Amino acid sequence: MRGHASPFDAPEGAINWRIISSLWPYLSEFRGRLFLAMGLMGLAKLANVTVPLTLKFIVDHFEGAGTREVLITVPLALLVAYGLLRFSATLFGELRDAVFVRVAERAMRRAALQVFEHLHRLELGFHLSRQTGGLSRDIERGTTGISFLLRFMVFNILPTLMEILLVAVILLVAVGPVFMFTVFGAIAVYVAFSVWITEWRTRFVREANLRDNESNTRAIDSLLNYETVKYFGNERFEAERFDQGLAAWETARMKNVLSLVLLNSGQALIIAAAITVMMILAATQVAAGTMTVGDLVMVNAYMIQLFIPLNFLGFVYREIRQSLANIERLFGLLEKPVKVQDLPGAPDLKVTAGAVRFEDVHFRYHRERSILQGVSLEIPAGHKVAVVGASGAGKSTLSRLLFRFYDVDQGRITVDGQDLREVTQDSLRRAIGVVPQDTVLFNESIAYNIAYGRPDATPDEIREAVRLAHLDDFISRLPQGLETVVGERGLKVSGGEKQRIAIARMLLKDPPILVFDEATSSLDSGSEKAILAALNEVAVRRTTLVIAHRLSTVMDADNIVVLEHGRVIEQGTHTQLLAREGTYHRLWQHQHERASADPEMAESPQQPISPS
Ligand SMILES: Nc1ncnc2c1ncn2[C@@H]1O[C@H](COP(=O)(O)OP(=O)(O)OP(=O)(O)O)[C@@H](O)[C@H]1O
Ligand SMILES: [Mg+2]
Repeated sequence: MRGHASPFDAPEGAINWRIISSLWPYLSEFRGRLFLAMGLMGLAKLANVTVPLTLKFIVDHFEGAGTREVLITVPLALLVAYGLLRFSATLFGELRDAVFVRVAERAMRRAALQVFEHLHRLELGFHLSRQTGGLSRDIERGTTGISFLLRFMVFNILPTLMEILLVAVILLVAVGPVFMFTVFGAIAVYVAFSVWITEWRTRFVREANLRDNESNTRAIDSLLNYETVKYFGNERFEAERFDQGLAAWETARMKNVLSLVLLNSGQALIIAAAITVMMILAATQVAAGTMTVGDLVMVNAYMIQLFIPLNFLGFVYREIRQSLANIERLFGLLEKPVKVQDLPGAPDLKVTAGAVRFEDVHFRYHRERSILQGVSLEIPAGHKVAVVGASGAGKSTLSRLLFRFYDVDQGRITVDGQDLREVTQDSLRRAIGVVPQDTVLFNESIAYNIAYGRPDATPDEIREAVRLAHLDDFISRLPQGLETVVGERGLKVSGGEKQRIAIARMLLKDPPILVFDEATSSLDSGSEKAILAALNEVAVRRTTLVIAHRLSTVMDADNIVVLEHGRVIEQGTHTQLLAREGTYHRLWQHQHERASADPEMAESPQQPISPS
């Protein structure tokens, strides 16, 4: 998020019109409602503006009243009218809100969904470096900001300006230009002051949000690492780190509130001064007999009535500035370019046989460090190819590239002759099933996590997947069986159980191309053997890429590729590679020695699990 210049970034201190105009689509969805709400608002304002006028007539009537009869009848009608007008001003305002609420809430929903979908479109790289805590805060504040902005742009700024204009005309006609200009002058000073102070304050708002994100990010990260915190007894350290974030936030918030005090006091001073001047003017005119008492009451009523929304306008202006700052971050997210994208009009991948080819693939995550340096390998349709090599050699990277989490920098990867970049990601990912090295589960039931492989699977199909992944024994021992909830990221089940759940859901997905990245590394050798046998059955006539450290699990592969520092240094069958007496041979010897020392693994190197 940070450091990314989006076109939505306005220079500090300028209202960002681009953001305001980009809200129009949200409004135009409900044009009917919008116009109805505007109409209601017009009625409310009209009623509001006529209230002081009615008041003037009432007062004037009393002043000039001669006979008792007039005193009773005429004012009664006026008084009732006065009451009705007051009530309708409020009523129409409420009706307007009732009509508009749908529009604002829908806009929030739309924006939140849009951002959510966009986040899922962004590449893995973005998600690996995102800060979940801060991100969720940005979304929350941004969507609230949109709703606020819509409501207040439409129903506050515009109508208040309208009201000011109406009142100005009434004052001009009823009591002369002096009053009108005084009102305008006061408003001008008021607005100028509010804008000036608000602009100055905006930096505190931004600062406070930034600090809020930071402390939230820290809190979430710390809680996700609960176990690590305990292992190292670092609760105190974590609390202090969190508190540092909070302290910065506290200071930023305090500056925010203090500057608000300044703004509010200044505004109150301007209003009080303006009302005093107007009242002195009116009082002199009444004394001179050029104005009635009713006029004085009316002027006072208008002033108060005008400055209430105007005062509100100050609040609204600063809230709008704040909302804009929040929406800016939200839209900044939406503007983040999607690096891995479908070509316009890209066709779906057509899997005929399922042959996979890596052709001279170069890849780097960051410019400074090259990970794959010209890897070429082929997995003929229906064959099983294994990739082995030291930790960090780039094995998992191969599977990420095949799944198109990233695009290759040079060379190409094809499935049945079609370049991955020229087909839709959807169709590609439907064709490939991955059991990743580190499985992460949803904090839902085991059944949910397995069915995730194919949400429309029948209970029978799920049971079959459970059986193939050798999960039935484990599940039958759970009091809640398949309905057991696995905890956040799947932390409540063991590593091996998690791997088997991942295998089960991949089996349920049932794709033509399979990738196993250390898929059985957390299993004891007994379970591993059983599962490998099941997987070998499934893998028959499917194209399979297996990544493994334990060479005994891949010795039956049609081809074994040895990867070192992002290069293929050897390949061949198990027997061929042993005969070469190269790296593979050395690795094999090494594991073999270890295996003889470890009775648990003793028999596995000698016995191929499923000779092909
Ligand atoms: N998102 C990333 N950003 C930057 N570097 C990365 C990223 N993911 C992996 N790497 C680096 O790329 C190199 C290859 O990673 P990869 O995960 O492919 O290794 P591997 O061969 O699967 O290793 P292991 O056997 O330990 O799983 C590693 O040195 C790793 O630090
Ligand atoms: Mg790996």
